[in-house]
Amino acid sequence: MSFRFDETDPQLLIVYTAGEYTAENYRELGRRWVARIERGERFGVLIVNEPYKPQESGKSDHSQQEYEAEEINRLVNAFRRDYRHLSRINTAGYANVYDPEAAWVISARAQAGKWESWQVVAESRARYMYGTHGGIFTDVQDAQQWLKSQLLQPPIDLEGLHSDLAAESTNHVGLYYGSTTGVTEKVAFDIQATWQQLAGETLVPINIGTVKDLSELLAYDYLILGVSTWNIGQLQDDWEIAFPQFDSIDLTGRKIALFGIGDQYGYPDNFLDALGILGNELIRRGATLVGYTDPSGYEFSTSLALENGQFMGLAIDEINQPELTESRISQWVTEVMDVFGLRYRAASTPDASTF
Ligand SMILES: Cc1cc2nc3c(=O)[nH]c(=O)nc-3n(C[C@H](O)[C@H](O)[C@H](O)COP(=O)(O)O)c2cc1C
Repeated sequence: MSFRFDETDPQLLIVYTAGEYTAENYRELGRRWVARIERGERFGVLIVNEPYKPQESGKSDHSQQEYEAEEINRLVNAFRRDYRHLSRINTAGYANVYDPEAAWVISARAQAGKWESWQVVAESRARYMYGTHGGIFTDVQDAQQWLKSQLLQPPIDLEGLHSDLAAESTNHVGLYYGSTTGVTEKVAFDIQATWQQLAGETLVPINIGTVKDLSELLAYDYLILGVSTWNIGQLQDDWEIAFPQFDSIDLTGRKIALFGIGDQYGYPDNFLDALGILGNELIRRGATLVGYTDPSGYEFSTSLALENGQFMGLAIDEINQPELTESRISQWVTEVMDVFGLRYRAASTPDASTF
Protein backbone atom coordinates (compact mmCIF):
# COMPACT_ATOMS: atom_id res chain seq x y z
CA MET A 1 0.00 0.00 0.00
CA SER A 2 1.79 3.15 -1.10
CA PHE A 3 -0.96 5.74 -0.57
CA ARG A 4 -1.25 7.21 2.90
CA PHE A 5 -4.30 9.33 3.58
CA ASP A 6 -4.55 12.32 5.91
CA GLU A 7 -8.07 13.61 6.45
CA THR A 8 -7.48 15.50 9.69
CA ASP A 9 -8.22 18.83 7.97
CA PRO A 10 -11.90 18.80 6.90
CA GLN A 11 -11.07 21.11 3.99
CA LEU A 12 -8.35 18.90 2.55
CA LEU A 13 -8.07 15.34 1.34
CA ILE A 14 -4.32 14.72 1.53
CA VAL A 15 -2.64 11.74 -0.08
CA TYR A 16 1.04 10.91 0.43
CA THR A 17 2.49 8.66 -2.19
CA ALA A 18 5.88 7.26 -3.09
CA GLY A 19 6.82 4.88 -5.85
CA GLU A 20 4.60 2.47 -7.67
CA TYR A 21 0.98 2.63 -6.71
CA THR A 22 -1.82 0.25 -7.46
CA ALA A 23 -5.33 0.44 -8.82
CA GLU A 24 -6.49 -0.43 -5.29
CA ASN A 25 -4.84 2.81 -4.07
CA TYR A 26 -6.87 4.76 -6.59
CA ARG A 27 -10.04 2.88 -5.73
CA GLU A 28 -9.58 3.90 -2.10
CA LEU A 29 -8.90 7.52 -3.09
CA GLY A 30 -12.08 7.46 -5.20
CA ARG A 31 -14.10 6.06 -2.28
CA ARG A 32 -12.93 8.81 0.08
CA TRP A 33 -13.45 11.52 -2.55
CA VAL A 34 -16.97 10.35 -3.39
CA ALA A 35 -17.88 9.99 0.30
CA ARG A 36 -17.03 13.67 0.82
CA ILE A 37 -18.93 14.71 -2.30
CA GLU A 38 -21.95 12.79 -1.08
CA ARG A 39 -21.73 14.50 2.31
CA GLY A 40 -21.87 17.82 0.42
CA GLU A 41 -18.50 19.00 1.72
CA ARG A 42 -16.28 21.42 -0.18
CA PHE A 43 -12.60 20.50 -0.09
CA GLY A 44 -9.31 20.45 -1.96
CA VAL A 45 -7.38 17.36 -3.00
CA LEU A 46 -3.64 17.41 -2.34
CA ILE A 47 -1.34 14.71 -3.73
CA VAL A 48 2.12 14.80 -2.15
CA ASN A 49 4.60 12.83 -4.27
CA GLU A 50 7.41 11.88 -1.92
CA PRO A 51 10.88 11.06 -3.23
CA TYR A 52 11.57 7.40 -3.78
CA LYS A 53 14.20 5.16 -5.27
CA PRO A 54 12.90 2.50 -7.63
CA GLN A 55 13.82 -0.86 -6.12
CA GLU A 56 16.29 -2.89 -8.12
CA SER A 57 15.13 -6.20 -6.76
CA GLY A 58 11.60 -7.41 -6.19
CA LYS A 59 10.12 -5.20 -8.90
CA SER A 60 6.62 -6.12 -9.94
CA ASP A 61 6.60 -7.63 -13.38
CA HIS A 62 5.93 -5.58 -16.47
CA SER A 63 2.55 -7.07 -17.34
CA GLN A 64 1.33 -6.43 -13.78
CA GLN A 65 2.41 -2.78 -14.09
CA GLU A 66 0.58 -2.48 -17.40
CA TYR A 67 -2.52 -4.00 -15.86
CA GLU A 68 -2.38 -1.54 -12.95
CA ALA A 69 -1.88 1.43 -15.32
CA GLU A 70 -4.86 0.41 -17.47
CA GLU A 71 -7.02 -0.17 -14.42
CA ILE A 72 -6.08 3.24 -12.97
CA ASN A 73 -6.92 4.87 -16.31
CA ARG A 74 -10.27 3.10 -16.29
CA LEU A 75 -11.02 4.21 -12.71
CA VAL A 76 -10.13 7.84 -13.41
CA ASN A 77 -12.30 7.84 -16.52
CA ALA A 78 -15.20 6.26 -14.63
CA PHE A 79 -14.88 9.03 -12.01
CA ARG A 80 -14.92 11.63 -14.78
CA ARG A 81 -18.06 10.16 -16.32
CA ASP A 82 -19.98 9.64 -13.10
CA TYR A 83 -18.76 12.35 -10.76
CA ARG A 84 -17.16 15.24 -12.64
CA HIS A 85 -20.33 17.32 -12.44
CA LEU A 86 -20.73 16.82 -8.72
CA SER A 87 -17.01 17.10 -8.14
CA ARG A 88 -17.07 20.46 -9.92
CA ILE A 89 -19.17 21.85 -7.06
CA ASN A 90 -17.39 20.13 -4.18
CA THR A 91 -13.76 19.94 -5.21
CA ALA A 92 -12.11 23.35 -4.96
CA GLY A 93 -8.81 22.29 -6.50
CA TYR A 94 -6.49 19.41 -7.30
CA ALA A 95 -2.85 20.05 -6.38
CA ASN A 96 0.21 17.90 -6.94
CA VAL A 97 3.42 18.49 -4.98
CA TYR A 98 6.69 17.14 -6.39
CA ASP A 99 10.05 16.76 -4.71
CA PRO A 100 12.08 19.81 -5.77
CA GLU A 101 15.27 17.74 -5.78
CA ALA A 102 13.93 15.33 -8.35
CA ALA A 103 16.09 15.72 -11.41
CA TRP A 104 13.20 15.94 -13.82
CA VAL A 105 11.67 18.86 -11.94
CA ILE A 106 14.95 20.73 -11.95
CA SER A 107 15.47 20.13 -15.65
CA ALA A 108 11.89 21.18 -16.34
CA ARG A 109 12.47 24.41 -14.43
CA ALA A 110 15.82 25.07 -16.07
CA GLN A 111 14.20 25.13 -19.47
CA ALA A 112 12.28 28.36 -19.63
CA GLY A 113 8.58 27.85 -20.06
CA LYS A 114 8.49 24.10 -19.30
CA TRP A 115 7.19 24.59 -15.77
CA GLU A 116 4.51 26.99 -17.04
CA SER A 117 3.39 24.65 -19.77
CA TRP A 118 3.22 21.84 -17.22
CA GLN A 119 0.95 24.06 -15.11
CA VAL A 120 -1.30 24.53 -18.12
CA VAL A 121 -1.50 20.76 -18.58
CA ALA A 122 -2.25 20.30 -14.85
CA GLU A 123 -5.09 22.84 -15.05
CA SER A 124 -6.66 21.35 -18.16
CA ARG A 125 -6.35 17.79 -16.89
CA ALA A 126 -7.93 18.68 -13.52
CA ARG A 127 -10.78 20.48 -15.29
CA TYR A 128 -11.38 17.56 -17.58
CA MET A 129 -11.09 14.73 -15.07
CA TYR A 130 -12.38 16.31 -11.88
CA GLY A 131 -14.22 19.48 -12.90
CA THR A 132 -11.85 21.62 -10.85
CA HIS A 133 -8.69 23.73 -11.02
CA GLY A 134 -5.31 22.03 -11.06
CA GLY A 135 -1.87 23.14 -9.91
CA ILE A 136 1.64 21.77 -9.41
CA PHE A 137 3.97 22.79 -6.61
CA THR A 138 7.31 21.94 -5.04
CA ASP A 139 6.25 23.01 -1.55
CA VAL A 140 3.43 21.44 0.47
CA GLN A 141 2.56 24.67 2.24
CA ASP A 142 2.31 26.60 -1.04
CA ALA A 143 -0.05 23.93 -2.33
CA GLN A 144 -2.16 24.05 0.83
CA GLN A 145 -2.36 27.83 0.65
CA TRP A 146 -3.41 27.64 -3.00
CA LEU A 147 -6.10 25.07 -2.22
CA LYS A 148 -7.45 27.24 0.63
CA SER A 149 -7.60 30.22 -1.73
CA GLN A 150 -9.49 28.05 -4.25
CA LEU A 151 -12.03 27.21 -1.54
CA LEU A 152 -13.04 30.88 -1.55
CA GLN A 153 -13.73 30.80 -5.31
CA PRO A 154 -16.98 29.68 -6.93
CA PRO A 155 -17.00 26.36 -8.86
CA ILE A 156 -15.60 26.57 -12.37
CA ASP A 157 -17.89 26.75 -15.34
CA LEU A 158 -18.12 23.47 -17.22
CA GLU A 159 -20.20 24.28 -20.23
CA GLY A 160 -22.74 21.92 -21.69
CA LEU A 161 -21.28 18.60 -20.68
CA HIS A 162 -24.34 16.85 -19.38
CA SER A 163 -27.04 15.21 -21.38
CA ASP A 164 -29.79 16.97 -19.39
CA LEU A 165 -28.89 19.92 -21.58
CA ALA A 166 -29.97 17.90 -24.60
CA ALA A 167 -33.53 17.95 -23.32
CA GLU A 168 -33.42 21.72 -22.98
CA SER A 169 -31.96 22.19 -26.42
CA THR A 170 -34.23 23.06 -29.31
CA ASN A 171 -31.55 22.20 -31.82
CA HIS A 172 -32.07 19.85 -34.64
CA VAL A 173 -28.36 19.07 -34.76
CA GLY A 174 -26.95 16.82 -32.01
CA LEU A 175 -23.22 17.03 -31.27
CA TYR A 176 -21.76 14.11 -29.30
CA TYR A 177 -18.16 13.18 -28.58
CA GLY A 178 -16.04 10.73 -26.58
CA SER A 179 -12.74 11.94 -25.18
CA THR A 180 -10.24 10.40 -22.77
CA THR A 181 -7.83 13.27 -22.19
CA GLY A 182 -9.97 16.16 -23.40
CA VAL A 183 -8.64 16.68 -26.93
CA THR A 184 -11.81 15.58 -28.75
CA GLU A 185 -13.80 17.59 -26.24
CA LYS A 186 -11.83 20.70 -27.12
CA VAL A 187 -12.40 20.07 -30.84
CA ALA A 188 -16.14 19.57 -30.16
CA PHE A 189 -16.27 22.99 -28.51
CA ASP A 190 -14.31 24.51 -31.41
CA ILE A 191 -16.89 23.03 -33.80
CA GLN A 192 -19.65 24.48 -31.62
CA ALA A 193 -18.04 27.94 -31.76
CA THR A 194 -17.61 27.77 -35.53
CA TRP A 195 -21.18 26.56 -36.01
CA GLN A 196 -22.45 29.39 -33.85
CA GLN A 197 -20.47 31.91 -35.85
CA LEU A 198 -21.58 30.60 -39.24
CA ALA A 199 -25.14 29.49 -38.58
CA GLY A 200 -26.10 31.51 -35.54
CA GLU A 201 -27.32 28.29 -33.92
CA THR A 202 -26.07 27.05 -30.55
CA LEU A 203 -25.08 23.40 -30.53
CA VAL A 204 -24.66 21.66 -27.19
CA PRO A 205 -21.62 19.34 -27.15
CA ILE A 206 -22.54 16.27 -25.13
CA ASN A 207 -20.06 13.77 -23.76
CA ILE A 208 -21.19 10.32 -24.92
CA GLY A 209 -19.98 9.01 -21.56
CA THR A 210 -22.94 10.77 -19.89
CA VAL A 211 -25.51 9.21 -22.22
CA LYS A 212 -27.28 6.21 -20.72
CA ASP A 213 -29.53 5.41 -23.68
CA LEU A 214 -28.19 5.89 -27.20
CA SER A 215 -31.72 6.20 -28.61
CA GLU A 216 -31.48 9.80 -27.29
CA LEU A 217 -29.53 10.50 -30.49
CA LEU A 218 -32.67 9.84 -32.54
CA ALA A 219 -34.23 13.05 -31.21
CA TYR A 220 -32.13 15.02 -33.68
CA ASP A 221 -32.60 15.43 -37.42
CA TYR A 222 -28.83 15.55 -37.93
CA LEU A 223 -25.88 14.33 -35.93
CA ILE A 224 -22.23 15.27 -35.56
CA LEU A 225 -20.22 12.60 -33.72
CA GLY A 226 -16.60 12.82 -32.60
CA VAL A 227 -14.26 10.00 -31.58
CA SER A 228 -10.56 9.60 -30.80
CA THR A 229 -8.59 6.41 -31.39
CA TRP A 230 -6.98 4.61 -28.43
CA ASN A 231 -5.04 1.47 -27.58
CA ILE A 232 -3.76 1.02 -31.12
CA GLY A 233 -6.75 1.01 -33.39
CA GLN A 234 -9.56 0.94 -30.79
CA LEU A 235 -12.55 3.15 -30.05
CA GLN A 236 -12.18 5.71 -27.27
CA ASP A 237 -13.51 3.97 -24.18
CA ASP A 238 -16.79 5.89 -23.69
CA TRP A 239 -17.71 5.02 -27.28
CA GLU A 240 -16.56 1.45 -26.65
CA ILE A 241 -19.03 1.21 -23.74
CA ALA A 242 -21.90 2.78 -25.71
CA PHE A 243 -21.19 0.90 -28.93
CA PRO A 244 -23.24 -2.32 -28.39
CA GLN A 245 -26.38 -0.18 -28.09
CA PHE A 246 -26.16 0.57 -31.83
CA ASP A 247 -27.49 -2.98 -32.31
CA SER A 248 -30.95 -1.77 -31.39
CA ILE A 249 -30.89 1.56 -33.23
CA ASP A 250 -32.20 2.16 -36.72
CA LEU A 251 -30.45 5.08 -38.39
CA THR A 252 -31.97 4.59 -41.82
CA GLY A 253 -31.92 7.80 -43.80
CA ARG A 254 -30.10 9.82 -41.11
CA LYS A 255 -27.34 12.16 -42.19
CA ILE A 256 -24.39 11.97 -39.85
CA ALA A 257 -21.09 13.89 -39.96
CA LEU A 258 -18.09 12.45 -38.12
CA PHE A 259 -14.88 13.89 -36.78
CA GLY A 260 -11.94 11.81 -35.66
CA ILE A 261 -8.87 12.62 -33.57
CA GLY A 262 -5.59 10.74 -33.73
CA ASP A 263 -1.81 10.83 -33.92
CA GLN A 264 -0.46 10.16 -37.42
CA TYR A 265 3.24 9.91 -36.46
CA GLY A 266 2.72 7.93 -33.27
CA TYR A 267 0.27 5.45 -34.81
CA PRO A 268 0.82 5.51 -38.60
CA ASP A 269 -0.63 2.01 -39.09
CA ASN A 270 -3.83 2.80 -37.20
CA PHE A 271 -4.31 6.49 -37.79
CA LEU A 272 -7.93 7.43 -36.91
CA ASP A 273 -9.07 3.80 -36.93
CA ALA A 274 -11.90 4.60 -34.51
CA LEU A 275 -13.38 7.00 -37.07
CA GLY A 276 -13.62 4.03 -39.44
CA ILE A 277 -14.97 1.65 -36.79
CA LEU A 278 -17.73 4.11 -35.84
CA GLY A 279 -18.38 5.13 -39.46
CA ASN A 280 -18.79 1.56 -40.69
CA GLU A 281 -21.15 0.72 -37.83
CA LEU A 282 -23.32 3.76 -38.61
CA ILE A 283 -23.46 2.80 -42.29
CA ARG A 284 -24.51 -0.74 -41.25
CA ARG A 285 -27.32 0.83 -39.21
CA GLY A 286 -28.58 2.69 -42.29
CA ALA A 287 -27.01 6.14 -41.82
CA THR A 288 -25.62 8.26 -44.63
CA LEU A 289 -22.26 9.72 -43.74
CA VAL A 290 -21.50 13.24 -44.91
CA GLY A 291 -18.46 15.49 -44.61
CA TYR A 292 -15.81 13.13 -46.04
CA THR A 293 -12.37 14.75 -46.35
CA ASP A 294 -9.23 14.38 -48.45
CA PRO A 295 -6.30 12.54 -46.79
CA SER A 296 -3.64 14.55 -48.58
CA GLY A 297 -1.66 16.64 -46.11
CA TYR A 298 -1.45 13.77 -43.59
CA GLU A 299 1.39 11.21 -43.30
CA PHE A 300 0.39 7.68 -42.35
CA SER A 301 0.46 4.13 -43.71
CA THR A 302 -2.98 2.66 -43.11
CA SER A 303 -6.27 3.72 -41.62
CA LEU A 304 -9.66 2.07 -41.17
CA ALA A 305 -11.12 5.57 -41.59
CA LEU A 306 -10.54 5.52 -45.35
CA GLU A 307 -13.39 4.71 -47.68
CA ASN A 308 -12.77 5.04 -51.41
CA GLY A 309 -9.63 7.03 -50.67
CA GLN A 310 -11.40 9.57 -48.44
CA PHE A 311 -11.53 9.96 -44.67
CA MET A 312 -15.04 9.23 -43.39
CA GLY A 313 -15.10 12.62 -41.70
CA LEU A 314 -13.02 15.50 -40.44
CA ALA A 315 -9.51 14.34 -39.48
CA ILE A 316 -7.77 16.21 -36.67
CA ASP A 317 -4.29 15.63 -35.29
CA GLU A 318 -3.75 17.98 -32.36
CA ILE A 319 -0.42 16.39 -31.51
CA ASN A 320 1.38 16.94 -34.81
CA GLN A 321 -0.66 19.50 -36.74
CA PRO A 322 -2.45 21.74 -34.21
CA GLU A 323 -1.85 24.79 -36.39
CA LEU A 324 -4.13 23.29 -39.09
CA THR A 325 -7.05 22.49 -36.78
CA GLU A 326 -8.84 25.84 -37.00
CA SER A 327 -8.90 26.04 -40.79
CA ARG A 328 -9.79 22.34 -41.12
CA ILE A 329 -12.75 22.84 -38.78
CA SER A 330 -14.09 25.96 -40.46
CA GLN A 331 -13.90 24.47 -43.96
CA TRP A 332 -15.55 21.24 -42.81
CA VAL A 333 -18.30 22.95 -40.80
CA THR A 334 -19.21 25.07 -43.83
CA GLU A 335 -19.45 21.96 -46.00
CA VAL A 336 -21.45 19.98 -43.45
CA MET A 337 -23.94 22.81 -42.99
CA ASP A 338 -24.38 22.85 -46.71
CA VAL A 339 -24.97 19.09 -46.96
CA PHE A 340 -27.36 19.18 -43.99
CA GLY A 341 -29.22 21.78 -46.04
CA LEU A 342 -28.92 24.34 -43.26
CA ARG A 343 -28.64 27.74 -44.82
CA TYR A 344 -25.28 29.31 -44.37
CA ARG A 345 -26.23 32.46 -42.47
CA ALA A 346 -23.34 34.73 -43.36
CA ALA A 347 -23.13 37.94 -41.35
CA SER A 348 -25.61 39.87 -43.47
CA THR A 349 -24.87 43.47 -44.26
CA PRO A 350 -28.09 45.47 -44.49
CA ASP A 351 -28.79 46.85 -47.92
CA ALA A 352 -28.45 50.63 -47.70
CA SER A 353 -31.25 51.14 -50.24
CA THR A 354 -33.82 49.72 -47.81
CA PHE A 355 -33.32 52.67 -45.45
C1 LIG B 1 -2.01 4.46 -25.63
C2 LIG B 1 -2.45 5.30 -26.79
C3 LIG B 1 -2.87 4.69 -27.94
C4 LIG B 1 -3.26 5.45 -29.07
N1 LIG B 1 -3.62 4.81 -30.23
C5 LIG B 1 -3.88 5.56 -31.33
C6 LIG B 1 -4.15 4.92 -32.59
O1 LIG B 1 -4.17 3.70 -32.71
N2 LIG B 1 -4.42 5.71 -33.67
C7 LIG B 1 -4.41 7.08 -33.59
O2 LIG B 1 -4.64 7.73 -34.62
N3 LIG B 1 -4.16 7.71 -32.41
C8 LIG B 1 -3.88 6.99 -31.29
N4 LIG B 1 -3.61 7.61 -30.11
C9 LIG B 1 -3.59 9.08 -30.05
C10 LIG B 1 -4.87 9.68 -29.47
O3 LIG B 1 -5.96 9.49 -30.32
C11 LIG B 1 -4.63 11.17 -29.26
O4 LIG B 1 -3.77 11.33 -28.16
C12 LIG B 1 -5.89 11.99 -29.07
O5 LIG B 1 -5.54 13.34 -29.10
C13 LIG B 1 -6.63 11.67 -27.78
O6 LIG B 1 -7.86 12.37 -27.78
P1 LIG B 1 -8.85 12.39 -26.50
O7 LIG B 1 -8.09 13.03 -25.40
O8 LIG B 1 -9.99 13.22 -26.93
O9 LIG B 1 -9.25 10.99 -26.22
C14 LIG B 1 -3.23 6.86 -29.01
C15 LIG B 1 -2.81 7.47 -27.80
C16 LIG B 1 -2.41 6.71 -26.73
C17 LIG B 1 -1.93 7.42 -25.49
